[in-house]
Amino acid sequence: MPASVIVGLQWGDEGKGKTTDFLAEQVSTVVRYQGGDNAGHTIVIGDDTFKLHLVPSGVLYGHITPIIGPGVVVNPATLIREFDGLISRGIDISKVRVSHAAHLILPYHVALDKARESALAGDKVGTTQRGIGPAYEDRAARLGLRVEDLLDPASTAARLARAIPEKRALLAALGATDYADAVDADAIAALIATWGERLRPHIADTNDLVQRAYTRKEHLLFEGAQGAMLDLDHGSYPFVTSSHPIAGGATTGGGIAPLQIDEVMGVMKAYATRVGSGPFVTELTDAIGERIAVTGHEVGTTTGRRRRVGWNDAVPLRYAVELNGVSSIMLNKLDVLSGIPEILLCVAYEIDGKRVERWPASAAELARAKPIYETFPGWEQEITSVRAMADLPENARRYVTALEEIAGAPIVLLSVGPERTQTIERAWRPLRHAKR
Ligand code: IMP
Repeated sequence: MPASVIVGLQWGDEGKGKTTDFLAEQVSTVVRYQGGDNAGHTIVIGDDTFKLHLVPSGVLYGHITPIIGPGVVVNPATLIREFDGLISRGIDISKVRVSHAAHLILPYHVALDKARESALAGDKVGTTQRGIGPAYEDRAARLGLRVEDLLDPASTAARLARAIPEKRALLAALGATDYADAVDADAIAALIATWGERLRPHIADTNDLVQRAYTRKEHLLFEGAQGAMLDLDHGSYPFVTSSHPIAGGATTGGGIAPLQIDEVMGVMKAYATRVGSGPFVTELTDAIGERIAVTGHEVGTTTGRRRRVGWNDAVPLRYAVELNGVSSIMLNKLDVLSGIPEILLCVAYEIDGKRVERWPASAAELARAKPIYETFPGWEQEITSVRAMADLPENARRYVTALEEIAGAPIVLLSVGPERTQTIERAWRPLRHAKR
């Protein structure tokens, strides 16, 4: 089993950090392939909680090479801060490798992200304000600086001289204030020199590392950030991130070929959450939503924002399973639903009086969608210490089975608490596309 991809099937925050951590023992390499420090992966081991934004969660295992692939946008300040935090807790970061081709998030990207969001006023995307979108824009415009430029002051100075006047003009046009530091070429060049010295031992041709590990038949894990429904092309545009969280993103951003991928594990929660703006057909704004948010600690790891909460929605779920070629699923946070008398599952939408089961391609149609629910009886029992499917309350099993049937892929791992041990392992290593 040399290459697996882990993808979020919802709007991010599905618990991919726990999934990666759970599988980490058997893999040699964990690769981040998109996004940047907008991500927030929380891993709980015993009394220790680790919150990682940029470093792949595999760093917590000494045998793993954590890789930040070319498709990631890297804020070196965050990366160094995260390194320092890990070192102070006794974690060895010496094996972390960052692609020379990954693009840099610089101070003006962060300033632009904030300025654009302010200018959008009531139409905000609700970004994490980490500069993700503006850094990817520069990459596409071929104006960006890459990790390799950290080691080349001459190239850096020339590129900054080209980029900065444009950024200054943009920031002024967007009505930004207090941005002088963000466009100070000398200050940025000095930062880059410092970052370069610190990160030099970690900069590598990560595609070569990935392909060599693959040839040695080692198990590689590609760790998606955000979720399929936030994908730039396939999510609810414009309320999406600027990269490709779907499994296909692992090929462009991680350096693995499509036919080298053996397994795509989709990760979802027992309910749905979304951070930031955008359509959310099953959103709950009542006491049940509040209860799920509180019990599930639904607060953004990166921004501290309260996540929006809703019932699970089969419409985007079926779409995400298809789009990613999901071969197995990890279902997280089932325990959070304990004690709720009735659990609703959206099985289709009503749009303009018609029942629709496919994810609406058009944003306008999606805006008119109303949920059609199936109701499941809940369960009273606390399930955090259950370790086998057979020991779950019957109503919990019924809900899990319904989700599995709707998704059309086997739920092989089921999480009933934040700790690594609070996991029900069902079928291990299912056949690819077992249900097709
Ligand atoms: P950006 O990625 O910061 O540009 O934000 C774009 C959208 O993606 C916003 O709605 C964010 O809230 C959302 N987003 C970005 N990263 C995450 C994440 O890790 N979890 C959940 N939502 C995210």
